Amino acid sequence: MNIAHKPFSLPALSVVESNDFTRAARILHTRAGILLGSHKRDMAERTLGLRAKKVNFATVREYLDLLEQSPHSPEWENFVNAFTINHTAFFREQHHFEILGDFVKTRTKPLSIWCAASSTGEEPYSIAITLQEYCPQPSYGVNIIATDIDTKAIERAKAGVYSMERVKPVPEEQLKKYFQRGVGERAGMVRVKQAVRDMVKFDVLNLLSPTWHSNEKFDAIFCRNTMIYFDKETQTRILERFAQVLKPGGLLFAGHSENFTYLTKAFRLQGQTVYVVSET
Ligand SMILES: C[S@@+](CC[C@H](N)C(=O)[O-])C[C@H]1O[C@@H](n2cnc3c(N)ncnc32)[C@H](O)[C@@H]1O
Repeated sequence: MNIAHKPFSLPALSVVESNDFTRAARILHTRAGILLGSHKRDMAERTLGLRAKKVNFATVREYLDLLEQSPHSPEWENFVNAFTINHTAFFREQHHFEILGDFVKTRTKPLSIWCAASSTGEEPYSIAITLQEYCPQPSYGVNIIATDIDTKAIERAKAGVYSMERVKPVPEEQLKKYFQRGVGERAGMVRVKQAVRDMVKFDVLNLLSPTWHSNEKFDAIFCRNTMIYFDKETQTRILERFAQVLKPGGLLFAGHSENFTYLTKAFRLQGQTVYVVSET
């Protein structure tokens, strides 16, 4: 077969106009807090063109009209999911898990930890494994809540299935103890064992939402590598709400490039991007 002249075809996109990017960036920022920099323009326009086509609009303008006019449209989920960045890893910033382990030994049960942008689950399962290792009787009086705005990421997190490549940061001994190896169709994959999965309750939650968890107070909150996508005003608002839901002496774990020292007095830097809630 002569394939030399076979036309190269891309999936057709809906029509993108010059102001669609700015409008979409504003809509995304209002809904999810995420800032879409102009360096992402090409990627964003392509994504918008594909989404608009998928829901049968000839133009991205009509697609954005739908989002603006229908705050409860199911398409919101796809729109936000398309612009989240889910990069994560097991035991990312390893020192935080050592600090967490030592910290939980000083606290009294019941222990509650909130992983506030848990992506595909590697971070909350690293928390659960740490508690298994450091807490006496970890199946009792330990509550881990893991949330994210991205519905697809939460689905993957709940399944707890990962490639061998993804679990490389997990020490061999813990890999044997807390993961089961896939067989047959799942060869080359591992699944977090039921006992560890049972420790984590996953839910979809937008950090910008006016209500979070009902009256729940936490010993520690992990919100790492997420605030960098928000503007300073949004970061400050969220930090002050985090302070209100932490128990006295509670810790906030931030990402390696996040510095909240100048944003609010609600937290004091303890070191290594770990903050302790200020006494009121
Ligand atoms: C780069 S990942 C960080 C994952 C993990 N915390 C870590 O450090 O490995 C950022 C996560 O923040 C989530 N996110 C972005 N905006 C959010 C919002 N408004 N509310 C909740 N989660 C959000 C994204 O869906 C994404 O999964």
